[in-house]
Amino acid sequence: MRTRTQVGIVGAGPAGLLLSHLLALRGIDSVLIEIRSREYCEARQRAGVLEDGSVALLREANLASRLDRQGLEHGGIYLQFDGQRRHIDFRELTGGRSVTVYAQTEVVKDLIARRIADSGRDAISFSVTETEVAELDTASPVLRYTDAAGTRHEVTCDAIAGCDGFHGICRPAIPAGVLTTWERDYPYAWLGILADVPPSTDELIYAHHCDGFALHSLRSPTVSRLYLQVDPDEVVANWPDERVWAELSRRFELPGWTLERGPVLDKSITPMRSFVSAPMRYGRLFLAGDAAHIVPPTGAKGLNLALADVAVLAPALDALLHGDEQPAAGYSATCLDRVWRSTHFSWWMTTMLHRTPGADEMTTQLQLSQLRYVTSSRAAATSLAENYTGWPPLSRLRSHADQDR
Ligand code: FAD
Ligand code: PHB
Repeated sequence: MRTRTQVGIVGAGPAGLLLSHLLALRGIDSVLIEIRSREYCEARQRAGVLEDGSVALLREANLASRLDRQGLEHGGIYLQFDGQRRHIDFRELTGGRSVTVYAQTEVVKDLIARRIADSGRDAISFSVTETEVAELDTASPVLRYTDAAGTRHEVTCDAIAGCDGFHGICRPAIPAGVLTTWERDYPYAWLGILADVPPSTDELIYAHHCDGFALHSLRSPTVSRLYLQVDPDEVVANWPDERVWAELSRRFELPGWTLERGPVLDKSITPMRSFVSAPMRYGRLFLAGDAAHIVPPTGAKGLNLALADVAVLAPALDALLHGDEQPAAGYSATCLDRVWRSTHFSWWMTTMLHRTPGADEMTTQLQLSQLRYVTSSRAAATSLAENYTGWPPLSRLRSHADQDR
């Protein structure tokens, strides 16, 4: 079946879903396709922290009614090391900025519901197969896929957005030699659990421990999200619930404080990688989110970067479709500036907090010195707070993108 649309979007993760909504608000048609089922996309456990700029973006796009009711605003984090737990007060250090804990699963559910409410059941084609993008260096790139009923589609577009994550097909469709990539794998992974137990803390705890990093995050007043550093080749089967809780209790141990335990609802292992590819555009194909860059989760940046990319891409595509090439020409550089800042911050948090297998005692002492500095120097703490709440602030990035018009 041959059809036409203005923007073909590959991937219904946060980037693709928000882009199709932002384009619809501008009166631009899109076709959004996703290889997974709706149920799978809505259940996939991933990030949990939204920068204040991401919250403002979702509010402006009229997507925040549940986020405003259920999101948990946090004005800081704890850093735990060497037997002490120290608070970093974001609000005080940054003139009132904060982050909001609201799971990626909920962001995705809200976005899917809104697209379907606004544009009907066909707004998103789930469970597609054999996705292809072609004719990327022409004014009419083509998106091909087979829908869940087995019908083959060929959609002629004005532009295609590759929002299909790190393992998608869009980035590899760019001819060899066009992209430069930078990559770092880390010699550890995170084992994450979702637990049906009230959080044992009022703010997220990032813990440095001689046996490895641990993170206490949360999802709601009754559900906790916790992570443990494990070896990169670990498998979930080696980690029965009892072993996970015992290890978490040890790494968070502090006199007078107890980690509450509860039924484990989900358990998975996430590899850690830094990856950037540039430029984020080839002809009429624009990459956004994890399709173009990956950060280790220690800085809570992946989801926020994906939202920031499409906040810049939507007005750039709008201008392109109206004959103004300038914002689209600036898209990659505008986003990459923020991507590199978050890449550095995530790498810095990761290397400061994790135990590197085989590392010597000197490495540990350097980490501890950095942690003491960050928790005692106002300048160092402000740097952490600025980066964690989002730097450059998304509002600045978006006004910069507007100036390109
Ligand atoms: P994705 O969410 O990956 O969405 C891409 C979509 O494209 C997917 O739905 C995929 O199924 C679809 N797709 C792929 N190929 C095709 C195709 N050929 N055709 C059609 N559709 C396709 N970040 C944090 O900040 N904190 C965390 O704790 C955290 N945990 C993570 C755990 C895991 C296992 C992973 C993979 C990532 C994690 N992240 C975390 C990162 C964060 O979740 C991502 O940065 C965010 O999902 C990026 O959104 P996206 O829309 O760019 O990509
Ligand atoms: C989460 O809640 O899933 C989360 C929070 C902070 C991080 C990473 C993940 O740095």
